Amino acid sequence: MRLIPLTGGLGAEIFGADLKDSDQFGAIQQAFTDYSVITLREQTITPEDHLRFARRLGDINVNRFFTALDTHPEIAIVLKEADQTGAVGEEWHTDHAYDQIPAMGSILHAIETPPFGGDTVFCSMGAAYGALTDRFKEIIGGLYAWHSSRHVFGVTDANSDTASTGRIGNAEQATQDALHPVVIRHPMSGRKGLFVNPQFTTRIDGFSKPESDAILNMLYAHCQKPEFQCRVRWQNGDVTMWDNRATWHKAINDYHGHRRYMHRVTVEGCALEPAEPPLKAG
Ligand code: SIN
Repeated sequence: MRLIPLTGGLGAEIFGADLKDSDQFGAIQQAFTDYSVITLREQTITPEDHLRFARRLGDINVNRFFTALDTHPEIAIVLKEADQTGAVGEEWHTDHAYDQIPAMGSILHAIETPPFGGDTVFCSMGAAYGALTDRFKEIIGGLYAWHSSRHVFGVTDANSDTASTGRIGNAEQATQDALHPVVIRHPMSGRKGLFVNPQFTTRIDGFSKPESDAILNMLYAHCQKPEFQCRVRWQNGDVTMWDNRATWHKAINDYHGHRRYMHRVTVEGCALEPAEPPLKAG
């Protein structure tokens, strides 16, 4: 097994690994903890192999909005047909941030990739937090923020290309609002990192909308610095797994006229702990 870091911020690609081999699981899990995003190149796996590997990491979290594979309801389909315009996951986001217990991470298997483009870009929330000044860290240290699924998967978006083509459904189940610390201590690595994202975070608790927007927009601009990013260029067979508590990601929709087809399995996480004690009101 040969590991090559993708950038100084996060991410690694791994050659010569086989996710079917249980003897390699320890090394793969360690790489995942160390790099937050890992791509296992050239995997030959079935949906059962995909699920078996995911279950070694934890229970499966079945996404209620994505269309699932008929034969394997725990596997979500991530698909853009050649004649479709919108892609799933185009905005910067953290999967399942709107749940009370956000998912640990996702494992995406590339079945059919376009001849160019269709990359996935990731940002390190630990690196972004670490680059803030100590004074700013003090300001955001004890804050909490609200996250929601309503404005993304709810009825308001039912007419989007992605919804109308059946790739996203169950709008009536988009009822979740969840409160999470703005700065978390990562449950595996212990590293401090930001836990707010442009797609699902709605506002900082206790702040007016303009106050909340000012802080969130500043953080979003900061997090998008190239120094905190890595980019996965997919090939058929690749499997990329990412840690939702340590990263944002975004699917690049730049391959119009071509099909991109992937299987995603998401693994349950745990309640998130604040890196600092909560700020007392008043
Ligand atoms: C996702 O957001 O889970 C999909 C990412 C991708 O299609 O690259």
